[in-house]
Amino acid sequence: MTALTMPDARGYFGNFGGRFVPETLANTLAALEEAYTAFRADADALKTLDDMLSSYAGRPTPLYHAKHISSATGVRIYLKREDLLHTGAHKLNNTLGQAMLARYMGKRRLVAETGAGQHGVATATVAALMDMECVIYMGETDIERQMPNVKRMKLLGARVVPVTAGGKTLKDSVNEAMRDWVKNCTGTHYLLGSVAGPHPFPMIVRDFQSVIGREARAQMRAQTGSDPDAAVACVGGGSNAAGLFHEFIGSGVDLIGVEAGGRSYAPGDHSASLTYGTEGILHGCLTMLLQNRHGQMDPVHSISAGLDYPSVGPEHSYWKDEKLARYATCSDRDALVACLALTRAEGIIPALESSHALGYVLSNRRQFKNRSVIVNLSGRGDKDLDTILKEAGI
Ligand SMILES: Cc1ncc(COP(=O)(O)O)c(C=O)c1O
Repeated sequence: MTALTMPDARGYFGNFGGRFVPETLANTLAALEEAYTAFRADADALKTLDDMLSSYAGRPTPLYHAKHISSATGVRIYLKREDLLHTGAHKLNNTLGQAMLARYMGKRRLVAETGAGQHGVATATVAALMDMECVIYMGETDIERQMPNVKRMKLLGARVVPVTAGGKTLKDSVNEAMRDWVKNCTGTHYLLGSVAGPHPFPMIVRDFQSVIGREARAQMRAQTGSDPDAAVACVGGGSNAAGLFHEFIGSGVDLIGVEAGGRSYAPGDHSASLTYGTEGILHGCLTMLLQNRHGQMDPVHSISAGLDYPSVGPEHSYWKDEKLARYATCSDRDALVACLALTRAEGIIPALESSHALGYVLSNRRQFKNRSVIVNLSGRGDKDLDTILKEAGI
């Protein structure tokens, strides 16, 4: 077993991962794994997915050499433009794949959690496309701050269920979506939006997102003749980062996942589970968590709803342990500065999540001087306009 062929048969990435779920779900997850194995070996199914990724979703997304921001910083910055994918973020790579897999299993109802609303919109989109019923669980706090996406989901025909438990953000929405799935698992697929959760989800979501890294590497080689020196992506649950990094694991490219540093390193002020967390089990897998010494989840904070999660996908915990990738933080403030800088220098308004990846590079520009860096622009900032304008005092 190598880093590229993980997870093992029990769903472990080294010491992390696994399947910690009640008996009812154990059977459903085993059936999902079996169906995915068949799907992955089915050339017709893969061809249909590939066709949809290009003709419907808009792949390949461009790799753009951001010349203005590069010359201002002395870092050769290349943006992988997942913000240009249909629905405005990388999430559609995964929802297209999983919705096809759900149909493959004969399921006609999708449930999903969402934080920033991008995964909710991407799920509602494929549900409309494939004529499936769709229920999205979303925390009340996130409903308020990501209202444009709530409206899009409703317009697409999804039912958006407000979640009022806990901090009313992503963790609480995952709890509710899982509860729904336990009750309705026969005809329902839980379309999990990140590389988190019990096996086989971290593997499935990583595989569907890996198209990002494969494309980016080929595009970088075509444009510059070589691999980048570094590749940087923001980490919430970790799907856009896993999608970019997987292709480069073990290649010598410096892989940097950027977590939400929030307001400060004090518990409750950030969402940086790899940087400040400890091992534990949440949402069916063993990984790094922000928890107190009694194993209760810490409250979390980020300016960006999509990074506001006290856990992270188990493969990232493994990559960190094995030093196959490294992880750092970017504060709310530096993310906002990066968001404004990109907007004004290149005419691209990034999502606040993606702004964390760029923010890390801009605030550590000396580390990257004269190096080439791919920054994953995981999504566009339309959903964040109110927050950006308010925080920037515009
Ligand atoms: C644009 C965007 N980027 C990043 C993320 C974080 O998710 P992940 O870490 O799974 O890529 C989200 C989550 O909603 C998002 O909407």
